[in-house]
Amino acid sequence: MLFQRKKPLDLILATAEKRSLKRQLGAFDLTMLGVGAVIGTGIFVLTAVAANKAGPGMMYSFVIAGIVCALTALIYSEIAAMVPVSGSAYTYSYAVLGELIAWMVGWALILEYAVAAGAVSVGWSGYANGFLAFHGMGLPDFLTAGPFYTEHVDGVTSVHMVDGVTHKGGFNLIAFMLALLVTWLLVMGTSKSAKVTAVLVMIKIVALAAFIALAFPAVDSANFTPMLPNGWGTPLSGVGVLGAAASIFFAYVGFDAVSTAAEETKNPNRNIPIGLIGSLAICTVFYLLVAYAAVGALGAQPGGPLSMSKEPLAFVLREIGWPRIGDLVAGAAILALPSVVLMMMFGQTRILFTMSRDGLMPATFSKVHPKYHTPHVVTWITGIFVACFAAVFPVDILADISNAGTLFAFFMVAAGVMILRRTDPARLRPFRTPLIWLVGPLAMGGCVLLFFSLGWNPTIKFFCIWAVIGLIIYFIYARKRSHMAPGNEALLHGHGEKLPADPLVRVGPDPGP
Ligand code: ALA
Repeated sequence: MLFQRKKPLDLILATAEKRSLKRQLGAFDLTMLGVGAVIGTGIFVLTAVAANKAGPGMMYSFVIAGIVCALTALIYSEIAAMVPVSGSAYTYSYAVLGELIAWMVGWALILEYAVAAGAVSVGWSGYANGFLAFHGMGLPDFLTAGPFYTEHVDGVTSVHMVDGVTHKGGFNLIAFMLALLVTWLLVMGTSKSAKVTAVLVMIKIVALAAFIALAFPAVDSANFTPMLPNGWGTPLSGVGVLGAAASIFFAYVGFDAVSTAAEETKNPNRNIPIGLIGSLAICTVFYLLVAYAAVGALGAQPGGPLSMSKEPLAFVLREIGWPRIGDLVAGAAILALPSVVLMMMFGQTRILFTMSRDGLMPATFSKVHPKYHTPHVVTWITGIFVACFAAVFPVDILADISNAGTLFAFFMVAAGVMILRRTDPARLRPFRTPLIWLVGPLAMGGCVLLFFSLGWNPTIKFFCIWAVIGLIIYFIYARKRSHMAPGNEALLHGHGEKLPADPLVRVGPDPGP
C-alpha cells in the first residue's frame, strides 16, 4: 500500500510535453554541460583529503569511484533517454518506486545538491584565501575556515590548533559570501550561455592539462612507497583506499546534471547517453592522470605536505619549481569553481520546485518571480542554507555528507531501471543499458560499498538522522498534501506555476531579452 502511490510515467511525460521547452541542445553542448558540472572542488581540493586517507593508494580510489560512476552513468542513460524530463532521480523514482521512495530520494538529493554547493564554496574559498594572502590581503585566520575545521596530522584527526592553543576556524567568510552571491545571480535569472560554459570548461581543462604536463616529468618512483599506508580500509572507518574512494566520489558527481537538461535536448535519445557517458569519460581520464602525477611528483603520505594543503594542485606545482603556473592553476580554480556552485544550487532549486508542484513541499516553493521568472523563494531559502553550511563546516565533511545522499539516489535509480524492465518491458527504450542484469546489481553493489566506506561519525550518523527527519515530515505533512493523495486529484493536472526554461541548461544561444 505504502509503495503504491505512483505517478504514471505517461502523466509525467505529458506534463513535460506541455511545457515544450525549446529543444536546442546537442551532444556537444551536453558533454560540455556535464564536464562543467563535474570538474570542481573534488579534483582541485579533495585530492589532499584522499591523500590523507589513502596515501599513494588514492590512485586506486579514483579508479574505484570512477567505475561506480561509469556503471551508474550507463543506467542513468537508459532512464533519462526514456523519460526525458527534469527532476532527475526524484521524478524517476516517483514513477517506478512510488511516492514514499521518491520523497526519500528527493530528500536525499538535498544532500547531493545543496550540501555539495556548500562543499564547492568551501573548496573555492581555500584557493581564494590563498590568493588573497599571497597578495597581502589575507583575512584573519578566524575568517578563513569554519569552527569545525579540522587538520589531519599523521593520519589522526584533531581540532585545528596553532601552537597547540588557538582554534583557527571561526566563520568562513568568503565561502559564505560566494554562496549568497550565486543565490542572487540565480534569483536574477542568470543563465550560462554556450560561450561562458565552454570558456569555463576550457579553463579547467587547460589547468588540469598543464598540471599533468608539468608534474609528470617530476614523477619519482620513491614517492609511491609505502603505497597503502592505511591499507584498503574497513567499513565505516572512512580511511584507507575505500574511505578515500568514498570521499573522492564527490569529484565525479554532477554528470547526472546532463539528465536534467533532457527537456531541452534535440534528439534526446541519442544525445543524452552521449552527454552523460562522454562527460564522465573525459573527466575520468583527466582525474587518473592528475592523481598519478600528484602522487608521483610530490608524494602523498597521510599527514604529509600534500595532504595538508587547501589548494593541493597549485601547491604541487609550486613545490616542484613552477610557482607561476601554480598561481595560474589556482586562478583557474578561482574563476571556474563558482559555476559548479551555481549548477549545484540550481539543481537543488529545480528539485524542490518539482516536489512543490507535486504537493510534497510547500506551494510557496514553486512561486515564480513576476519579473525574473525564477523560483525566487526556494532559491533564497536554499541559498541561505548553503551559505550557512559553507560558513561553518569544512569541505571534507560536507563532501562526504553530499556523497551519502548521492549514493542513496544512485542506488534507487539503478533499482528503478531494473524494476521497470520487468514491469513495463514494452515501453520504448531509445538507449538500453547493456547487460542490465550485470551492470545494475554491480552499480547497486558499488553504491553500497562506497556508502559504507564513508565514516560513521559524522557522515553516516548524519545521514540516518536526516532520513528519520525526512520520514517524519513525509508522514505528518507531505503525504496528505500530495497531489496524488485521495481528494487532491483535481490538483494533479496542470497545477502550479511554470518556469519558462531551465537557466542551467540554456547553454545554447542566449535567449535574448
Ligand atoms: N564534482 C563536483 C566537484 O568536484 C561536484 O566540485
